[in-house]
Amino acid sequence: MKFTLVTWVWIVAVIVLRSRARPLPRRSLTSTLLLNALGFQPRGDGKVTISIQAFAHLATPESFSPLTHFLNSTLHQIHGDHMATAMQRFNLFGAVGIPFDKLTLTVKGCEEQDVELPRTGFKDLGIVIANVSVGKCQSSLPTAKTDNSDTVTIFSSPPTGLGIISDVDDTIKVTDVLEFQKMLENTAYKDPVPVAGMPDLYHSLAKSLTSYSIPPQFIYLSDSPFQLFPFLNSFLESHFPASLGPLLLQSLSATNPEEIFNFLFDKSGQKLDFKVEQIERIHGFYPHKSFLVIGDSSKQDPEVYGKAYIKFGSRFIRCIWIHLVDGADNSEERFEKAFRGVPDDTILKFSTSEIPRLQNIDVAGGKCK
Ligand SMILES: *[C@@H]1O[C@H](CO)[C@@H](O)[C@H](O)[C@H]1NC(C)=O
Ligand SMILES: *[C@@H]1O[C@H](CO)[C@@H](O)[C@H](O)[C@H]1NC(C)=O
Repeated sequence: MKFTLVTWVWIVAVIVLRSRARPLPRRSLTSTLLLNALGFQPRGDGKVTISIQAFAHLATPESFSPLTHFLNSTLHQIHGDHMATAMQRFNLFGAVGIPFDKLTLTVKGCEEQDVELPRTGFKDLGIVIANVSVGKCQSSLPTAKTDNSDTVTIFSSPPTGLGIISDVDDTIKVTDVLEFQKMLENTAYKDPVPVAGMPDLYHSLAKSLTSYSIPPQFIYLSDSPFQLFPFLNSFLESHFPASLGPLLLQSLSATNPEEIFNFLFDKSGQKLDFKVEQIERIHGFYPHKSFLVIGDSSKQDPEVYGKAYIKFGSRFIRCIWIHLVDGADNSEERFEKAFRGVPDDTILKFSTSEIPRLQNIDVAGGKCK
């Protein structure tokens, strides 16, 4: 996003207006994207801390001409309805973040009902990522919102029990990340389709990985930018209602559409680092949980999960499941390198047709294949 003088004047005006008149009437100039949050108990005493990510921004423009232009030329004159869908999905890429904004969360279902967040960032314009304490929660799925955001679920889980860390693109959702054109169409306007068999498998894992009546914590880890949260989250709600969980996404303040899509398509190491860091964060939240990690061979999941295993060991990374994507590098050499030091009985590689039988694996009983 290039900041013209007008943009800056607007941002400053909004900040000044908002800091002077409090409480404000319903804010119409600004909006907050709140991602669904993960809740953990740092002291194991029932008091919950939530890890929240929010993006405060000026109301988004109706159209975003560099994006329209890019889609029109790349998708060879995408027609009107599809363009409208794409503009809706990519709407947040045109949003200008608001630095130094102060957001208050209204939490339902926990002791603390009004929680102040630290001010939004200046460098990563408008974003705030923070841990905030909300006390004990009587509800198993509390909710949170700000005065100008949608309501999101807090997925809170006790310190012990099992969990699933799952990739999204081409693990549970057909994205075709290996083919630029298809990836773009699937992301821009096609109805998102789950990988065949995955909704049933996750539904069954939600039951079979419940231990001592603690349901497994599902965490969706994708290297997609957070601007795609509304799209990806509604995909999860439609197709994975029995296995919902927080969606951890990258903070990317992209400047132009081409950059966004090259980034989505890119297979370089930057993403490896992002996912490894996120697994480190998850370890910080739940050092005593044990995870089944699920990904695919189209990008760097084998390398990411291999690294995480070496770092945290079998106590934390219980099993690694890799969906073999057609056209990806599924060679022995690749996996040998990615999984050096990981015991063979921890790793399961499977094709799409094998997905239904994965329900029979006794992961809770210590098996991975
Ligand atoms: C799409 O491209 C065509 C031909 O290049 C052009 O006539 C049309 O105005 C463009 N539409 C948009 C929405 O950019
Ligand atoms: C939130 O808490 C976790 C676990 O204690 C920690 O690893 C992480 O760094 C904290 N994040 C922030 C933004 O403070």
